[in-house]
Amino acid sequence: MNVFTEETRARAREIVARYPADRSRSALLPLLHLVQAEEGYVSPAGVEFCAEVLGLNKAQVGAVATFYTMYKRKPTGDFLVSVCTNTMCNVLGGQEVYDTLVEHLGVGHDETTADGTITLEHAECLAACDYGPVMTVNYDFFDKVDPQTAVGVVDELRAGGRPMPTRGARLCTLKEMAVQLAGFADEREGAVADGGPGEASLRGLLLAQQHNISVPGFDPNTPIRSKADADKAAAEAKARAEAAEKAKAEAAAKQAPTAPVKGGDGASAPTGTPPGTEPARPEQATGSTAPDVKAPDDKSPQVRTAETRQPDAATAVPDAPGTKVPSDAVPPAPRDAQEAEAAGAAANPPAGDGKPAGDEAGAQERNLKQAEAGAGASGAGSTGANETGVQK
Ligand code: FES
Repeated sequence: MNVFTEETRARAREIVARYPADRSRSALLPLLHLVQAEEGYVSPAGVEFCAEVLGLNKAQVGAVATFYTMYKRKPTGDFLVSVCTNTMCNVLGGQEVYDTLVEHLGVGHDETTADGTITLEHAECLAACDYGPVMTVNYDFFDKVDPQTAVGVVDELRAGGRPMPTRGARLCTLKEMAVQLAGFADEREGAVADGGPGEASLRGLLLAQQHNISVPGFDPNTPIRSKADADKAAAEAKARAEAAEKAKAEAAAKQAPTAPVKGGDGASAPTGTPPGTEPARPEQATGSTAPDVKAPDDKSPQVRTAETRQPDAATAVPDAPGTKVPSDAVPPAPRDAQEAEAAGAAANPPAGDGKPAGDEAGAQERNLKQAEAGAGASGAGSTGANETGVQK
């Protein structure tokens, strides 16, 4: 625990203060980057530090730290070289780049060179597929690399140089990058403006500008709110939601039916429902003989959908609550169709041998012939059993 400096502790407090008091555990990810910035990896002491700061136990912190590959479990070099070997980069030569570096550096995945300069890893998509094969050094991109380019980059790093990434700021060490990932600004003079984004990355933005597409009301210069401002805005939003809910309930109460139901003695019945009794249905209360169909707003989605599709048809949705299906709702199938169906059923008995019904050579052709024969017999006024023995 003592390995962490007062500066790191102050930064930890700053990170936690970014989150609402009852959401402080959300600060775990940046805190893990912070402890990694101090030690070069998330050590047992780092796990303990995060747990203590956030009031979690070490198992909870460890579960997160071991889930994400950006948190390292053992000391790393100054430069983390990640080579994408995922599908897109792989077909473009990413695996050759990685294999060449393995051979050149004499280390494998997640291993560090003896001089402590380079940690090598293969990565599963670095989110720059349009620039493949891609490799990153401390998460800054080197696009469209080949084995020779990759070797040149690591050799320059080991010689103390700082090759310029294809995009983004100039390289810093992995510990310095971890501070940025914890949410603190890159304080190097002009570093942020060093490298422009790639053309493919800007394609969507350019298209939006060409077609005059923008997000209504969005101001890219909107300042990030302080926690106090965010809390105040949240409280105001909650109050507005509660007021809207209350107004809605009051409006519903006003629209509720108020016509009194006369009791046997002519006195108005109470509008409420006595405990233990069912509310009276409309036809019960009024003596109406109208069909048992609910008011439009109470119709089930099935009924509404059926009516939308067939506005002129009687509502005929089986099992729809509150709906009576007329006994003649389903028109009888044409006779020819019945005969064809019967012939098909007779020709496709359950196989009984594990085969699906009808899995028999010539069954389809025979079915068609039987259907035709049945139709012909029907046209001739036949009413007896057909060739299949199925009673019509
Ligand atoms: S597959 Fe390599 S960056 Fe996506």
